[in-house]
Amino acid sequence: MSSGVRSHTVPQADRVAMTLPRLEEMRRNGEPIVMVTAYDYPSATVAEAARVDLVLVGDSAANVVLGYERTDLVSMEEMIVLGKAVRRGLKTPLMIADMPMGSYEASDELAVVSAQRLIKETGAQCVKLEAGGVSARRARAIVAAGVPVMGHLGLTPQTATALGGYKAQGKSAKAAVKLYEDALALQDAGCFSIVFEAVPAEIAATIAARLDLVTIGIGAGSGTSGQVLVFHDLLGITTGHMAKFVKQYADVHAEMVAAVGRYATEVRTGAFPGPEHAYAIDAEELAEFRRQVDVDALASAKAWEWEPLS
Ligand code: KIV
Repeated sequence: MSSGVRSHTVPQADRVAMTLPRLEEMRRNGEPIVMVTAYDYPSATVAEAARVDLVLVGDSAANVVLGYERTDLVSMEEMIVLGKAVRRGLKTPLMIADMPMGSYEASDELAVVSAQRLIKETGAQCVKLEAGGVSARRARAIVAAGVPVMGHLGLTPQTATALGGYKAQGKSAKAAVKLYEDALALQDAGCFSIVFEAVPAEIAATIAARLDLVTIGIGAGSGTSGQVLVFHDLLGITTGHMAKFVKQYADVHAEMVAAVGRYATEVRTGAFPGPEHAYAIDAEELAEFRRQVDVDALASAKAWEWEPLS
């Protein structure tokens, strides 16, 4: 069956859609918040069916979907295509779209225009931007324009080169204090949440306990309000080097390679397609079809024979 006739249905949610007040309530009640990335319609339907709370259209799409080496290479247009597909597959989780590098740093005006574009064109409800410093000012401007903002501190892949590579952050008292100050600035700017990536567990827990917003960790221990993992990493679709903080819950890449390999073998040996994969035709219609093509073939062969050579 071709994908053109297959019906894809988003599972009907028997729970209410996630909202910012509900998220805040979860934090206050100490209910762990589950966030995962998604980049297309199938990954979004998986996130929906698995009943996660938050879905991030992460710019990690650059690495895990588009094959770029770094996240700073992904464009706004690419993020929008991916975000639109995710929107079609989601009903319940709150959808957050990553602002790609270059779409918010230069000015408040650029940040607001880019955030509103992401919201309007993808259907995401919130945006995420990386780093402290000037990003806190941009976050304030976006929040003032009515768009909820999630911050992202610690290892911020868009600026990994400037950070000295993909390594844990906040590992000295001085660096951890700076992390805390950046978090306070993002909170003061009105962010509803902050992601902490690759930060020592004790530092993330201490900062999270002093903040009055939802904190999400990735490689930041268990002291945050919730956790996020990259969809392709947790499913084992990604191959090659994996960050220390990734827990792989499946080996989907190996499954996919094995399945495509079995398909290839069956095509080559003639085992596929079998009669059960073919469409039937009424015997009389088939006989008539054969009679007509044989007669027509004969007639056209004769016509060709008689055609004078030029
Ligand atoms: O882009 C991404 O996937 C992220 C998460 C790792 C938080 O920013």
